Amino acid sequence: MRLPTFVSLFLLVISQTVLSSPCVSFDSSFNLLAFGLDGKDWNAGTQESWANGTAADITANGRPPFDGVNTTCYLAQFFNAVYVLNGNSSDSSAVHIYDAAGKSWSRQSVITGSFDATNFAAILDHDTNVFYALSQGSLFYLNMGSMTSANSTAISWIDADKSPYPSSYTSPVMALAQNHIHFLDVPGVPAGSADIFVIHYNYFQPASQPYPVAGGGTIPATQGKTASFFQAEGVQQEFAFIPEDGSATYVINVETNTTEAYTGPSTKDAAATYAASITALVQLDSKGNVMFFPYTEGDVSVNTAATWTKVAAIAAVAPATSSSASSSTTGTAGETQTIISGGGGPTTTGSASGHSSGSLAVRMSGPLAAAGLVGVLACVL
Ligand SMILES: *[C@@H]1O[C@H](CO)[C@@H](O)[C@H](O)[C@H]1NC(C)=O
Ligand SMILES: *[C@@H]1O[C@H](CO)[C@@H](O)[C@H](O)[C@H]1NC(C)=O
Ligand SMILES: *[C@@H]1O[C@H](CO)[C@@H](O)[C@H](O)[C@H]1NC(C)=O
Ligand SMILES: *[C@@H]1O[C@H](CO)[C@@H](O)[C@H](O)[C@H]1NC(C)=O
Ligand SMILES: *[C@@H]1O[C@H](CO)[C@@H](O)[C@H](O)[C@H]1NC(C)=O
Repeated sequence: MRLPTFVSLFLLVISQTVLSSPCVSFDSSFNLLAFGLDGKDWNAGTQESWANGTAADITANGRPPFDGVNTTCYLAQFFNAVYVLNGNSSDSSAVHIYDAAGKSWSRQSVITGSFDATNFAAILDHDTNVFYALSQGSLFYLNMGSMTSANSTAISWIDADKSPYPSSYTSPVMALAQNHIHFLDVPGVPAGSADIFVIHYNYFQPASQPYPVAGGGTIPATQGKTASFFQAEGVQQEFAFIPEDGSATYVINVETNTTEAYTGPSTKDAAATYAASITALVQLDSKGNVMFFPYTEGDVSVNTAATWTKVAAIAAVAPATSSSASSSTTGTAGETQTIISGGGGPTTTGSASGHSSGSLAVRMSGPLAAAGLVGVLACVL
């Protein structure tokens, strides 16, 4: 790195550094949705159209800027809505709601109370449409009711219960299946076992549940990401766990209490995030590449032969950044948002199911913005 100029140092000090966080999710027909990629939102259609074709631009008014850290997106399957947490770095408490049928956005006001909206892991319970989040040692919930758009009444995070987990469990790895929240990588729990919270009984199951890998082996006790496979009807019964080293794709079945180990994603990226449909697991890596693993519930031999494939329909319209630093500038009058992605930017550390990407964005407002871009590039080049 060249010596930064005085001007660039000055501008870096006054600029606010945030991380750009796109996310992937689905609508209830399992069209693949990618939000905040190259500053826009995309619908790649259903799975047969991912390998070719072109994603449709669904960028609409009222969307969050997807400039937050740890932005996460959740499909409310019964309501054909996607809920976005931390979609706006300046408004971390809000839930942004994408009504997939109406292709419209709204912003739900949320009262956080003692909930730390900047540091948590969460799942959206399938049957009740309630978020459960572990934050600062407590389990909180937020009832989304049947919302496909925000209503004028604020909703509140409620502190449900102190968790029984050690205070060192600061980056929870949470997964949902069969209305049970699974906590992986809990300190003191043997590798291959999960601790469980039973949603309908508000109950932390005292004993850990082992999920042995078929044919031998153990899910490693490590950080990683999760995604629950939906069902055509009813609640999820399986979830994927991708350890942060990307060495395998574990699929945990909570009916049989067993695990299958399949090939890991081609891109090993601790900061990648994941979403699952009924028949696919999708990876969004920190450079903005979207890949998928076709998945057939109950067919181990087909899944064993399956390979990770690029979602070309998204790459065609929102190409990932190259390995060297690159920048793009978006924004409206009075505000310039410079996004520097790729190898040149710092990456966030792998964090539970908290989703984050490694793209560095620097936001500046007003007349200094253009000068700021020059200053930032001076540091990066
Ligand atoms: C697109 O991909 C699908 C599945 O891979 C294939 O069946 C179809 O023929 C392809 N269409 C075109 C136009 O290439
Ligand atoms: C993000 O939040 C800030 C603070 O509430 C708000 O002023 C701004 O309009 C929001 N941005 C978008 C694009 O919604
Ligand atoms: C992102 O999530 C991680 C892990 O939960 C947390 O340590 C970090 O503080 C979060 N950062 C922000 C800015 O929300
Ligand atoms: C807003 O939505 C919440 C959650 O579904 C619900 O409890 C509340 O009654 C709604 N308020 C109004 C005014 O519709
Ligand atoms: C699987 O684990 C759950 C949770 O511990 C338990 O309730 C259930 O009885 C187990 N099922 C089987 C088939 O072992």
